[in-house]
Amino acid sequence: MNSWKPRLCVLALVAGALAVPAGPADAAPTRYEAENATLSQGAVESNHTGYSGSGFVNGDNVAGSYTEWTVNAPGAGTATLALRYANGTTGDRPADLAVNGSVVAASRAFAPTANWDTWATVTLTAQVKAGPNTIRATAATAGGNPNWDYLDADVQVSGFTDYQAETATIARGVVESNHAGYTGSGFVNYDNATGSYVEFQVSAAATGPQSLTFRYANGTTIDRPLS
Ligand code: GCU
Ligand code: CA
Repeated sequence: MNSWKPRLCVLALVAGALAVPAGPADAAPTRYEAENATLSQGAVESNHTGYSGSGFVNGDNVAGSYTEWTVNAPGAGTATLALRYANGTTGDRPADLAVNGSVVAASRAFAPTANWDTWATVTLTAQVKAGPNTIRATAATAGGNPNWDYLDADVQVSGFTDYQAETATIARGVVESNHAGYTGSGFVNYDNATGSYVEFQVSAAATGPQSLTFRYANGTTIDRPLS
């Protein structure tokens, strides 16, 4: 359905992402490890295997204990939220899932995963606002939450398709992740040289003018102009 695939070449010094009016989805979830989340009644542990990052969250086995992640959205839209968990018991560990304080899935089931070294993913979609959004998983029963490994969040900004800089063609730059707040898996740090670039290939639903939104960071006090 899309035959027009322009190539956009961006000469700049730091690029995070490009958004263009909606075309085919470009899945690029951002991973938020549970061990970096905010905990109420729980601890970060690593005494079971198979987790990503440096550990997982073991919440206290009481109703009301929670883990809360903060998901950064480049704009208002729909987030696909994938929670990776382990439940080594033989019973459900239901959780109330809330976005920005509003429950979007009450008593969502987190079924047994055979043992505490086996992880599964539960996915839901929710509306998010531009900027930081809290995603809180609260134990709905006295059994507590399952163990949490991470939250993967893929935000589709309404009306736009995101193209991550880290998957663009990069000339004289490297993908890094040593600063916070990016979407996807990182950002591009250009070599500080004239002519370094990233080039995005985008799909458009129709020929004609299109809006392009570039997300970037410039931590200096001076402009970083680009073509
Ligand atoms: C075990 C397991 C923990 C888990 C707990 C639970 O103690 O080692 O990781 O959180 O059971 O029942 O919640
Ligand atoms: Ca527990």
